[in-house]
Amino acid sequence: MNTKNASLTVGKSKKNLEFPVYKGSEGPEVIDITSLYKESGFFTYDPGFMSTASCESSITYVDGEKGVLRYRGYDIAQLARKSNFMEVCYLLLHGELPAKKEFNLFVSEIKNRSLVHEQLQFLYRGFPRFSHPMAIMCGAFASLSAFYHDSLNINDEEQRRIAALRMIAKTPTLAAMAYKYSRGKPFIYPKNELDYTANFLHMLFAVPSEEYKVNKVLAKAMDTIFILHADHEQNASTSTVRLAGSSGANPFACISAGIASLWGPAHGGANEAVIHMLEEIGDIKNIPKFIKRAKDKDDPFRLMGFGHRVYKNYDPRASVLKDTCHEVLTELDMQNNSLLKIAMKLEDIALTDKYFIKRKLYPNVDFYSGIIYKAMGIPSNLYTVLFAIARTAGWVAQWKEMIEDPKQKIGRPRQLYTGHKPRNYVPVGKRK
Ligand code: SDX
Repeated sequence: MNTKNASLTVGKSKKNLEFPVYKGSEGPEVIDITSLYKESGFFTYDPGFMSTASCESSITYVDGEKGVLRYRGYDIAQLARKSNFMEVCYLLLHGELPAKKEFNLFVSEIKNRSLVHEQLQFLYRGFPRFSHPMAIMCGAFASLSAFYHDSLNINDEEQRRIAALRMIAKTPTLAAMAYKYSRGKPFIYPKNELDYTANFLHMLFAVPSEEYKVNKVLAKAMDTIFILHADHEQNASTSTVRLAGSSGANPFACISAGIASLWGPAHGGANEAVIHMLEEIGDIKNIPKFIKRAKDKDDPFRLMGFGHRVYKNYDPRASVLKDTCHEVLTELDMQNNSLLKIAMKLEDIALTDKYFIKRKLYPNVDFYSGIIYKAMGIPSNLYTVLFAIARTAGWVAQWKEMIEDPKQKIGRPRQLYTGHKPRNYVPVGKRK
C-alpha cells in the first residue's frame, strides 16, 4: 500500500520528517502521520475532520466531486433498482452478494430474531407518550444489552455474528413499537410470512382488530429508501459507532450511540427538518424570502436537505429518491402534493443561485425522503427513526470491520489546548 513518502519540515530546528503515503483501491491517497507526535512533538489539527481519514475500510466508497456512492463496489443506483434491503445488508456485512441459498438462510436468521423480549414493553411504558421516538430508540436499543448476554463478547466471532443479526432484525420492531406507543395503540408483533420492509410497515400500521394489507408499491419504495440510507462511509454517526466500539463497549451500546448522533439536525435529523422547513415556506411565492435567509450569515436558518460535507455534486441518493417520490405520489394519487411542488421549485431556484453554486450546495439524501414519508402517513418525528433502521446495517458492518481489524486500537484524539496556564487555588474568602 505504501507508494511514496510525504515530507514535512517542522519546528524551529526545521526538522525534516518523512511519512509513508498509502494508496487505496479508489479515492485520495493518505499520509500516515502516526509517528508525527513522537518524532516532532506536534499534533495535527483538523476540527470536523475535513482532511482526516480515521480508518481503512473496504465497505463503502463515496466520491463527493463526482457524486458517486458504491457499497462493496456496486453503484447505489444499480442496487436501489435491482437489489433489496436484505440482500444489501448481507453485502455490507459479508462483502459479496449472496448466492440464493446464502440469501435464504440470512433472511430466515433475521426473521427468527425479529421479536424482542416481552419485558421490553415495560421499558417503553416508562416513557411519556409524547416522547420523541428517537429518545425511545436510544434507550430501547441500548437496553438490548441487558437482555441478550449471549452476544456481548466482541472477541467471540459467533457472538458478533448473532449480535449483528439481532441488531438488524430488531430495529424495525423497536421502531414500530415506539410509534405505536406514542399513539397509545397496541404493539403489533412481527409476521414472518412478510419480508423485512413489508413486515415493518405491517407493525407500523396494522391494528389487532382487522387485517392490514401492506401496499406493495409503498413497501418497495420503503425498501429502496432503506437501501439508499444503509451506509455512507465515515459519517458522524458511523464514526461515533466506531469510536464507541474502539473501547470494547458492547455492540448494542455502540449502535445506540450511533442513533444518538444521527438524531442531530445537521445529520440524520435533517429529513424531519426538511418537512418543517417546507411547511414553514408554505407557498412557492415565499421561497425567495427563505433563500435570502439561508444566505444571511446573521440568520441561523439553513436550507435543510441541502449541502453535504462530502458531496460537492448532486447526492446520487437524492436522484433516486426524487424518482421514488414521484412513484409513491402517483400510487397514492397525490401528484399535486404541495410540499413536492415547493421542494422542486426550491431546488430549481437554489441550483441557479450563485451562493449555492459557488459553495456546491446540492440536494442531499434528506431532501425528498420526508415528502415520501409524509405521503405514506408517517409522522415527521419518525423520519430519523426510519433512517436509523436502514443505517443500522451500515453501522453494524462498520463496527464488525473495526473489531476484526488486527490494527484496531482505542480511538483517543488529542487537542490544541488554549485554556489557563498553571495557577494556584484561591480560597473563597479571597476571591473577588
Ligand atoms: C446527512 O456525512 C454524511 O455522509 C451524512 C449523510 C449520511 O448518509 O450519513 O449523508 C446524511 O447527514 C446529510 C446532510 C443532512 N444535513 C442537512 O441537510 C442540514 C443542512 N446542511 C448543512 O447543515 C451542511 O450542508 C452540512 C452540515 C450538511 C455540511 O456542512 P459542512 O460540510 O460543515 O459545510 P459548512 O457548514 O462549512 O458550509 C460551507 C458553506 C458555509 O458558507 P460560508 O461560511 O462558506 O459562507 O456553505 C454554507 C455554509 O454557511 N452552507 C449552507 C448550507 N450548507 C452549507 N448555507 C445554506 N444552507 C445550507 N444547507
